[in-house]
Amino acid sequence: MAASKPVEPQAGVPHWKLALAVGAPLLLGAGAVYLWNRRKTSKRDSQRRTPEGRASPTLTGRSPNQEPEFPQEASPLVKAQAAKNKGNKYFKASKYDQAIQCYTEAIGLCPPEKKDDLATFYQNRAAAYEQLQTWKDVVQDCTKAVELNPRYVKALYRRAKAHERLDNKKECLEDVTAVCILEGFQNQQSMLLADKVLKLLGKDKAKDKYKNREPLMPSPQFIKSYFSSFTDDIISQPLQKGEKSDEDKDNEGEEVVVKENSGYLKAKQYMEEENYDKIISECRKEIEADGKYTAEALLLRATFYLLIGNATFAKPDLDQVVIMEKANVKLRANALIKRGSMYMQQQQPQLSTQDFNMAADIDPQNADVYHHRGQLKILLDQVEEAVADFDECIRLQPDSALAQAQKCFALYRKAYTGSNPLQIKASMKGFEDVIKKFPKCAEGYALYAQALTDQQQFGTADEMYNKCIDLEPDNATTYVHKGLLQLQWKQDLDKGLDLISKAIEIDNKCDFAYETMGTIEVQRGNLDKAIEMFNKAINLAKSEMEMAHLYSLCDAAYAQTKVAEKYGLKPPTL
Ligand SMILES: *[C@@H]1O[C@H](CO)[C@@H](O)[C@H](O)[C@H]1NC(C)=O
Ligand SMILES: *[C@@H]1O[C@H](CO)[C@@H](O)[C@H](O)[C@H]1NC(C)=O
Repeated sequence: MAASKPVEPQAGVPHWKLALAVGAPLLLGAGAVYLWNRRKTSKRDSQRRTPEGRASPTLTGRSPNQEPEFPQEASPLVKAQAAKNKGNKYFKASKYDQAIQCYTEAIGLCPPEKKDDLATFYQNRAAAYEQLQTWKDVVQDCTKAVELNPRYVKALYRRAKAHERLDNKKECLEDVTAVCILEGFQNQQSMLLADKVLKLLGKDKAKDKYKNREPLMPSPQFIKSYFSSFTDDIISQPLQKGEKSDEDKDNEGEEVVVKENSGYLKAKQYMEEENYDKIISECRKEIEADGKYTAEALLLRATFYLLIGNATFAKPDLDQVVIMEKANVKLRANALIKRGSMYMQQQQPQLSTQDFNMAADIDPQNADVYHHRGQLKILLDQVEEAVADFDECIRLQPDSALAQAQKCFALYRKAYTGSNPLQIKASMKGFEDVIKKFPKCAEGYALYAQALTDQQQFGTADEMYNKCIDLEPDNATTYVHKGLLQLQWKQDLDKGLDLISKAIEIDNKCDFAYETMGTIEVQRGNLDKAIEMFNKAINLAKSEMEMAHLYSLCDAAYAQTKVAEKYGLKPPTL
């Protein structure tokens, strides 16, 4: 996440990275609980393929499966175990039908009070059914096994896989969540299955919900910050004298009439008044009248479609601007930047790169192109190329504080991932130069604070966030970051949550705040509250992908409540 936040100005971009990076440390090295310790692998994996034999104790730690010499007066249990052992031999020889017969015999012979043994026999038969791919039988036998031994990891995991095959995603998630908790989130294989099914569930739900959601205009702070990330284009700038006086010359003394006739000029006016809801319809008028500012209007309309999260409608407008050979090249380059960012959000990095490169081809002197392409390269972990782009941006616009700050961050990432202490030191020095040179650039402090947090220099990081807040008191994101810092630094949950609440107070559309609060509540074991927060974030999601990611978090929390109810299992909490 640390790497994804600096690109916030791209409406909605940062979260796609988050969604992909599921499993990377989110907060305190942990996000939603299913993400915990994902990178650690376990040696337990290899045992799962085989049926239960003597080497595979059940989770209760007992190993009931001795292989005794068969005495004359064998007890029913001993006979049952012998049948099972015979079954295991057939299983190893890939004779699954015979194996099933033996396990069935074992089940029939086993005294009902020998629950662990009986569970093992069912589980083993399920393993044989699994080989025959009769998934419903697998589910049935695993269910028997789990009834007899509720903490039976192998049976739960086997049932999870069978549910996956049967496309019972919800049931699969519940089982695999129970497995993850029982294994202390230490087993890569089950974590991966949880991850996979969560993503599938999230995707399904987001697909449905996103289509039918109400369009949602982001906060004015967000919109202004978005437009301020473009410095070399036409539609982001306030109306220029030239635009108006040009009209005046043709229609002397009739400026008001002209303005009303031009949907685009009216849209620009609304923009200055922060009356954002009217912009799309005014642009439509300009486009339908095939007015003088059709290209501008298409681009502005597309931009607002992107801002309200409607990429489907943004795309044709952007496509049209891109191919308008007669239009101002700045408009076309800007459309390419936006389409490229949109592709990135849709996880199509190749198309994205293609658009940015084309923008650089047609408008090589446009600093925005390099600035935004640099951010893309950071997301793609192509740090050297990112640095080159930021350098180009700085060459074209020596006073671009943002580009300089982001270049520092790119250099820092490179040093950090390369574990190069000298370079890390140099990049930290770079940040100090930038904030000295551009003391009014909040982003500089914010990025420096992230690097400082990485370096565990929490006190200084906190000071940097305070500077951001001084400069931009109504930027909610900063409060969330500062809140996260309190957790990491002092494990101070209350102060952290206070700051995040403050973020919501400032901007009640700050989805990042709700999401963060949700993940903290998961870790505190307040699952209901977490689900409530995730749902709020879902309603504010700026893209289908972001929504899918949030649904995954929400489903993870929900599955944990189910598991808690069913098996009395709780994940570790903070
Ligand atoms: C995009 O906007 C159009 C026109 O307003 C609307 O019909 C469509 O449902 C919107 N799509 C989404 C995903 O919001
Ligand atoms: C808030 O600050 C962050 C830096 O912490 C910046 O990236 C973002 O663009 C700002 N957002 C708004 C809405 O001003």
